Amino acid sequence: MQTIVTESVDVAATWLNRSEVVAFPTETVYGLGADITSEKALGNIFTAKGRPSDNPLIVHVHSFEQVKEVASEIPESAGTFIRHFFPGPLTLILKKNMAVSPLVTAGLPTVGIRCPSYPVAIEFLKRCHHPVAAPSANISGRPSSTDWETVYGDLKGKIRCVLKGPRSTIGLESTIVDCSVDPPRMLRYGAVSLEILRKLVPETIAATTQKHQQPKSPGLKYLHYSPSARVILCGPEYPLCKGEENSAWIGLSPPPEGVTKNLVCKDSEEYAYKLFSFFRECDREKIAVIFCEMPPPEGIGQAIRDRLQRASEV
Ligand code: TXA
Ligand code: MG
Repeated sequence: MQTIVTESVDVAATWLNRSEVVAFPTETVYGLGADITSEKALGNIFTAKGRPSDNPLIVHVHSFEQVKEVASEIPESAGTFIRHFFPGPLTLILKKNMAVSPLVTAGLPTVGIRCPSYPVAIEFLKRCHHPVAAPSANISGRPSSTDWETVYGDLKGKIRCVLKGPRSTIGLESTIVDCSVDPPRMLRYGAVSLEILRKLVPETIAATTQKHQQPKSPGLKYLHYSPSARVILCGPEYPLCKGEENSAWIGLSPPPEGVTKNLVCKDSEEYAYKLFSFFRECDREKIAVIFCEMPPPEGIGQAIRDRLQRASEV
């Protein structure tokens, strides 16, 4: 299949409306979109990514009206979060409307909904005839793509179109909060921290998933965000990292001696923004080990810690 790269939201939406899979930019990471009413397109997302079919997709909307098309109930907590974070880096899990295909929700009675903030994403979604189901635009298990070149590298020949836009400014996937339960439960860390959620809805809790227990968010049981290199966590609560041949460092502190390559970030925002592209760069340069400093568990630092933890699990 020939993969078209375009800067035109009209061209990209036309392909999507023809039941084709189209990657598009968002402020968190790039998404791999399909019309939620097209079984063919939804099926092709799973094939293109090599994604297990029991992992549900997030539905992307451009307005509150569209939320009502896919959710059957909007509890008060969800209303509060929508007012503050739509558009933004927050996904809400709500009870789904009958019309939403089980292919989108992997058979669950709930659906994940997000309204991205990038103007190009909103313009694209407005031209699509229905809401757009989209996982991150990467091969399953690999780090999410934060620029169109990486999307193209992973998925060329497997999808119809890439809507070329700016690099994702946040760099990590959205925070997920389940509002289909009471009290609301945060299922995935992201740019919107638990602390911020609690300022708005104080009852909000963090979901803890014990190993061997069915995770509330199916995607959380899969290996994620992994570069080919081995990821080793560093910081006060971890063993000392020592540079070695073909190793790299990313963190907020200066690198240990002897690393081949390093990236020191000025704060956790920059760390989040650059993390996945650094992983990809290390892979291209055949780095064997990446030492990753755990940032302080505040704000987006929590989300970085979560992704690093998962990337380090083999
Ligand atoms: O920032 C993001 O959220 C990006 C951009 C493209 O919007 N999308 C993204 O999608 O990260 P994905 O598919 O890589 O991750 C979606 C996560 C998965 O862990 C999935 O299991 C969970 O959301 N999820 C989706 N629907 C769910 C539901 N109904 N209940 C619980 N978890 C759900
Ligand atoms: Mg993903």
